[in-house]
Amino acid sequence: MITHRSYTVEPWCVRETALGLDVLAQSESVFALSNGHVGWRGNLDEGEPHGLPGSYLNGVHELHPLPYAEAGYGYPESGQTVINVTNGKVLRLLVDDEPFDLRYGRLVAHERVLDLRRGVLERSCEWTSPAGTTVRVRSTRLVSLTQRAVAAVAYEVQAVGGRSRVVIQSELVANESLPEPGDDPRTARALKSPLEPEEDVAVGNRLRLVHRTKRSGLRVAVAADHTVTGPGRTTTSSESNVDVARLTVTSVLEPGETLRVEKLVAHGWSGARSRPAMSDQVEAALAAAGHSGWQGLLDEQRACLDDFWARADVEVDGDEEIQQAVRFALFHVFQAGARAEQRAIPAKGLTGSGYDGHAFWDTETFVLPLLTYTAPDAVAEALRWRQNTLPAARERAAQLGLSGAAFPWRTIEGSEGSAYWPAGTAAFHVNADIADAVVRYVAATGDLGFEAGTGVELLVETARLWRSLGHHDTHGTFHIDGVTGPDEYSAVADDNTYTNLMARANLLSAADAVERHPEAAARLGVDEEESAAWRDAAEAVHLPFNDELGVHEQHAGFTRYQHWDFAGTRPDQYPLLLHFPYFDLYRKQVVKQADLVLAMYTCDSHFDDEQLARNFAYYEPLTVRDSSLSACCQAVIAAQAGHLRLAYAYTAEAALMDLADLEQNTRDGLYIASLAGTWTALVAGFGGLRRDGTGLRFAPRLPERFSRLAFSVQLRGSRLRVEIGPDKATYTLLSGGPLAIRHHGTPLTVNGDGPVVRPLPPPPVRPAPAQPPHRSPKGR
Ligand code: BGC
Repeated sequence: MITHRSYTVEPWCVRETALGLDVLAQSESVFALSNGHVGWRGNLDEGEPHGLPGSYLNGVHELHPLPYAEAGYGYPESGQTVINVTNGKVLRLLVDDEPFDLRYGRLVAHERVLDLRRGVLERSCEWTSPAGTTVRVRSTRLVSLTQRAVAAVAYEVQAVGGRSRVVIQSELVANESLPEPGDDPRTARALKSPLEPEEDVAVGNRLRLVHRTKRSGLRVAVAADHTVTGPGRTTTSSESNVDVARLTVTSVLEPGETLRVEKLVAHGWSGARSRPAMSDQVEAALAAAGHSGWQGLLDEQRACLDDFWARADVEVDGDEEIQQAVRFALFHVFQAGARAEQRAIPAKGLTGSGYDGHAFWDTETFVLPLLTYTAPDAVAEALRWRQNTLPAARERAAQLGLSGAAFPWRTIEGSEGSAYWPAGTAAFHVNADIADAVVRYVAATGDLGFEAGTGVELLVETARLWRSLGHHDTHGTFHIDGVTGPDEYSAVADDNTYTNLMARANLLSAADAVERHPEAAARLGVDEEESAAWRDAAEAVHLPFNDELGVHEQHAGFTRYQHWDFAGTRPDQYPLLLHFPYFDLYRKQVVKQADLVLAMYTCDSHFDDEQLARNFAYYEPLTVRDSSLSACCQAVIAAQAGHLRLAYAYTAEAALMDLADLEQNTRDGLYIASLAGTWTALVAGFGGLRRDGTGLRFAPRLPERFSRLAFSVQLRGSRLRVEIGPDKATYTLLSGGPLAIRHHGTPLTVNGDGPVVRPLPPPPVRPAPAQPPHRSPKGR
């Protein structure tokens, strides 16, 4: 855990003023740059020291056999793991015979700044070598949001005090040695030197390496070009071998003189294209980057982010730390999705190899809501990726004896990658989460072309799955038995309320969509009988309720279980999954992460305010938040129930998850869903944003700490700004046509005539429920 204050609190950047070698891996995640296609961890330019070297291309993975002590029918045979591809960011430095390595000599100053408006990572340092030579090094790095294959670095060395001989080696490096990955030797084998060489080229200032993965057969090409500026005595040479291509720049610097290398790097990968085609592809991308030039790339980056911030910024007055954290979160979520373009948005984005680089329901449930209202094009692309993986999902459904499509719990390329089916395949709710994302996107954008081409197919195939997975009992009630909901401390349970409600919505929206798109329906073979069966199932879905307690059950029978022995559980026994057997967790009342509470957010129309408050009070003392996806959901419902202090505390936990390394795993990459959850906590929690048919509702209320909260949402081509003060909310139409919304239940129209101001009703007063012992919100 980052126990010392690592970063200064500033509104538009994350600044690290001293290099902490003990937390290098964490800072590499925090300072990662990505555009959703290329990801570079914030490794030091020189390559070493490092925590975890990481250069990723979205979709590039290796396959490995999955370990089973006892195999069973339908267990996935092959696992997928993201690999560290050819590293284009390395610029090694030699100063008067000494390698510039911050573990040696004296580091006079070292600062790194992630600039959230310019989209660059800047570094400046002053270092005295063990032999007493002092140099200043500055670098600026970007992963281009406008040219998706491209990343670039400007690296400068300046002599200080005396004359120095300096050598910069700018490299492309494949098969870097990595720290041991996990315990499974088979995974380790797959990840050790995963790339087989196909081509290495060094001509003048240009470098290129082409490799291929061994089992997955993916070809990876990386090329670099350089512009060198230095005193007249500067020389260059280049060379390559199978795993390294290198440009060497040598100069002698008088005090005050600077040697500068601008490095443009282009990336490409393909499972189909030939080696010559891949070489040409990266050379072409490099030519395009060269055409823009370094300054051009910087300008494009800034313009792209100016546009994003105009649509997405969230302003928080009264808490500078949360202000910084939400911008940090928005920046990383945008980076993860901006140019993913029909690839997954992994749980860790492209910031680290955590979760093996897999994507989960995190994407649809946590990341896409934010992007729907701020960068909707990225949502359409993410859902097109799901559509592209339909063949694998149909095959999986057939293998499981089901109809339609069964999307994987975790995956890179579309097939199920979970070796633990109770918390993998059985978590069928991922299918309804995808359907929900489709409906949300279409409602928010009115993109009927997308609905006809992509949406209907996703809705129909997931509806088919639910219809075959559930059954009507003798009274006609529809049950979905033996499934795992969001809470992974319950598994293979009957009638999970979240799953049933989400499946219900899925079935109804599929039936509605086929009516709107008869041609697509005919293409997919949906007839009236089939869609009527979806409606019947949806209307008859069972919602387990305990009349005695007056609360919804997380799943049928849940409230009858024995309570977990919270009093006897020590603080160091969390997360529980690492200290107790699943069989015991599964048969007790203990909740890993918001499940019923999440249902009250995503399917809000099924719960009135009193019921919501009762349910929240019941589940809160059972919820241990062993998943970082929980705090943001609890923040939303706590705010709705009127527990504003608690909502604030959960917002802070979600917001600081990675910046303060609350879960102690930031080193593996950032938690993109939890980052997105910061937005959710603020906008859906304190802003009270909910979907209302094709429109939106707001029910704003502020916690004591905030004096103002402002955000924008994009809806059907219009942009709405919502500004919330302690006692009033102001709705302003920034662009586009008028919007009909609701404020605390009252309809109003926001149009070009000027802002609409409404008072905030007082929040309901209720005693705030307690958390399990030792599990009160972290971060504050
Ligand atoms: C959570 C899942 C989540 C996964 C990846 C797990 O710990 O329980 O809900 O999808 O992490 O973020």
